[in-house]
Amino acid sequence: MTLTREDFVALDAEDVLAPFADEFDLPEGMVYLDGNSLGAMPKAALARAQEVILKEWGTDLIKSWNKAGWFNLVEKLGDKTATLIGADKGEVIFADATGLNVYKLVAAALDMRPDRKVIVMEGSNFPTDNYMVQGLIKQLGRGHEIRFAEDGEILDAIDDDVAVVCLTHVHYKTGNLHDMAAITAKAQKVGALTVWDLCHSAGALAVDLNGCNVDLALGCTYKYLNGGPGSQSFMFVAKRHHGKAAQPLTGWWGHDAPFGFERDYRPRQDIRQFSTGTEPIVSLAMSEVGLDIFMRADMSEIRKKSLKQTDLFIQLIKERLDGYGFSIATPLEHDKRGSQVSIYSDNGFPIMQALIAADVVGDFRAPDIMRFGFTPLYVSYVDVWDAIDRLKNIMESGSWDKPEFKNRGAVT
Ligand SMILES: Cc1ncc(COP(=O)(O)O)c(C=O)c1O
Repeated sequence: MTLTREDFVALDAEDVLAPFADEFDLPEGMVYLDGNSLGAMPKAALARAQEVILKEWGTDLIKSWNKAGWFNLVEKLGDKTATLIGADKGEVIFADATGLNVYKLVAAALDMRPDRKVIVMEGSNFPTDNYMVQGLIKQLGRGHEIRFAEDGEILDAIDDDVAVVCLTHVHYKTGNLHDMAAITAKAQKVGALTVWDLCHSAGALAVDLNGCNVDLALGCTYKYLNGGPGSQSFMFVAKRHHGKAAQPLTGWWGHDAPFGFERDYRPRQDIRQFSTGTEPIVSLAMSEVGLDIFMRADMSEIRKKSLKQTDLFIQLIKERLDGYGFSIATPLEHDKRGSQVSIYSDNGFPIMQALIAADVVGDFRAPDIMRFGFTPLYVSYVDVWDAIDRLKNIMESGSWDKPEFKNRGAVT
């Protein structure tokens, strides 16, 4: 049966997550399908920013390191994130940028497998992960090499030479979801360690790090977790590796007694060793606002709605956009799909610009992918309909072909 807008209105009416949309500030009329790149702003962020700036910084000044708990915020936020990714208290910490944490965790893992030289990675992964490991290999100068493998080749690429398997759980371009349990099991069978990048899965689906016996993981917080632009990354280190895994950026925040001011580095024996130095507290405070919304949401409901929305989006593309040269890049199987739908199109760039001008915000990933992220806390079912409806208008009118939609900015 062909879908109509009324079907989507009806789905919203019975959606248990619908009230969460009121907690986010989005411009009226905008369909925001880019929360997989930069999450929407929680309304509570403004009041919290005022509090942290005016009271904690402005009035209480240095006292806030103790009084407002600034020094332990990196662990407090880690414990909250742990509940979303199947980790335990004390296994997750906030620090630095995602790429930096790839460096730190892969370095720690290589240190734990000194006789092995191979790192398995996905060549088509978001480049910074590969770049950081390439830099690390160069710096170590011990003959490590990356063995690139794509989806479908990964299990076979993992053999006795492998020290570390470092993969992103959900592919940034296609939305392909790796089988974390199977890959981790294979890695551990041959004695390798795993580092999982959760940039596109934390907050998008219920990750089960300990259920999969993952060794190390990291992710960003500015996408699905709504931590704000450039918010800090998080790292997970399984308890069994505490005191054994050690990251190389040995700053005072990872020292066993940071306020002992000893001459020589002595590593903390827990997750805190993965911290390096003073963190941006104002930004961390914003991350907590985003996380606190998740503390009240049911991850299984989020996943259920995400799959339903992405299913419907795919169905509408097939029903209403046939003949315009679109094909779906995202896997159709639920157990292989993250929380996005990516569409191949030769004219993907100008079409996406025309869509953005029509207030449907997704993004474009070269050479030919239009990417739409689904964030069930603030994307409604009617948004799904409206996005496709506006795309249909653009295709029917050919308005995407205007010169103004062909100028590329620095960020696509
Ligand atoms: C898989 C993955 N890793 C890393 C990053 C970004 O890293 P950083 O936060 O260091 O800029 C992204 C950004 O989109 C990503 O998709």
